[in-house]
Amino acid sequence: MSTERVATVVGDLIKRINDAIDEHEVTYDEYHAAMNYLIRLGEAGEWPLFLDVFFEHTVERLNQGEGGTIEGPYYVPDAPWLERPYVLPQRDDEKGDVLILSGTVRSTGGRPIPGAVLDMWQADADTYYSNVQEGPPPYNLRGRMTADDNGEFEVRTIVPPSYHLPRGGPMEELLNAAGWHDFRPGHLHFIVSADGYTPLITQLYFEGDRYLDSDVASAVKPELVLSLRKHDSPEEMEERGLKKPFFTTSHEFRLKPQDG
Ligand code: BEZ
Ligand code: FE
Repeated sequence: MSTERVATVVGDLIKRINDAIDEHEVTYDEYHAAMNYLIRLGEAGEWPLFLDVFFEHTVERLNQGEGGTIEGPYYVPDAPWLERPYVLPQRDDEKGDVLILSGTVRSTGGRPIPGAVLDMWQADADTYYSNVQEGPPPYNLRGRMTADDNGEFEVRTIVPPSYHLPRGGPMEELLNAAGWHDFRPGHLHFIVSADGYTPLITQLYFEGDRYLDSDVASAVKPELVLSLRKHDSPEEMEERGLKKPFFTTSHEFRLKPQDG
């Protein structure tokens, strides 16, 4: 980053924070409480959580736009490559309803992209992400797969219920102090990539989730909200080799060709 860019952006941030301090007549007690809070936020390792909740959505909108949304703090590289038929790695007794997500990866011009890579991750039904939180085994509900020759894919996972941020640290303390809830709608994360295209970072949400309109991370876009279809007939379950009802949905990911 150039000296000029740092001076412009950081200078403006400093000015705007000073304006807010002025406007709200912040006291010395409040100033010291904020200083103490920010130190504790760092000590607890919650800076990525704080920044991704409050600011990533704006950076994302400017840099990706339609079809994309925030990455959040819980991506882990090198998730296992899956074999067809794709099933996201999970425990034998993984909690949650079975979800079969199918779809296509296309260019923004509409052409299917054979072999596109989908790197997928999600929290378990208790809101824990494997590899970054205690609980699930390594790489649980994380995996990489490719679209077929028609740009199509299908993967079995679980329907993610509404999600709350990790509790017990400075982030929860701030949300409580402001009287704000700490929920995000349930979601599936993806990074979709292919040679010659800009990787798409996104998430999928589901109709009916009570937090679609009040996501604490402000990262829901209408084109990312899918409807779920329930399948509970014995024939459908048998056809899928499942012993319980399941849900299906589908989505089309669109990748931008890289310039040049
Ligand atoms: C998430 O998508 O899981 C997430 C996003 C922002 C902050 C915390 C979590
Ligand atoms: Fe998430």
